[in-house]
Amino acid sequence: MSKSKVLIAPSILSGNFADMGSDVKNMTEIGADWIHVDVMDGVFVPNLTFGFKMISDLRPLSQIFFDVHLMITQPIRYVERFVKSGAQLVSFHYEAEQDIKGTIEKIKAVGCKCGLAINPDTPVDVITPYLANLDLILIMSVFPGFGGQKFIDGSLERIARAKSLRDKYAPHALIEVDGGVNKENAASIIGAGADVLVAGNAVFGATDRAAAVKFLRGE
Ligand code: DX5
Ligand code: ZN
Repeated sequence: MSKSKVLIAPSILSGNFADMGSDVKNMTEIGADWIHVDVMDGVFVPNLTFGFKMISDLRPLSQIFFDVHLMITQPIRYVERFVKSGAQLVSFHYEAEQDIKGTIEKIKAVGCKCGLAINPDTPVDVITPYLANLDLILIMSVFPGFGGQKFIDGSLERIARAKSLRDKYAPHALIEVDGGVNKENAASIIGAGADVLVAGNAVFGATDRAAAVKFLRGE
């Protein structure tokens, strides 16, 4: 995947669940690079969102890249169905799966890009054995479950550590940062090494969403 410019992935968790189609079309029109799709099972995280049908119903509405973030236990059971529903990249949590290698293989075998997500209290170095097979490293800068939380201090050091491991073992992989990204901290997150910024409230809550996307990208 190209690292030429920073990508902005608005999270539809901050959209209107009764009108998700309009939100996906709107994000496409305002120049978002990806749509970040948060899937929660109420077990791995204390919140519930949606599953395959929402993704497959949204898929025909836009060509935009669907970046699916699975916050579900034992994701290996479901990853192929998420790919079939229209995901172009599926990320799952290190903390939620025993068979990390097998899950990565399943995602890649069906022609999809694969990301591995880690919670704020998981040591960054756990990703090392998997890096060569990953397309993306997802560094959580809040505990997953809800939009609109505060960026956790110390996440910048974790991003920098992920960047140094990435540069050494997987130069092709992107670093994505998710949680509490806003106008004030975006430049330092990019400076620490992020290639993709997820932004829920910072985009959906902005009066001018197109301007918010550009600002976060550093334009
Ligand atoms: C949190 C989700 C995030 C969230 C980000 O569990 O994974 O993607 O929607 O929202 P903001 O940018 O508002 O923190
Ligand atoms: Zn997310």
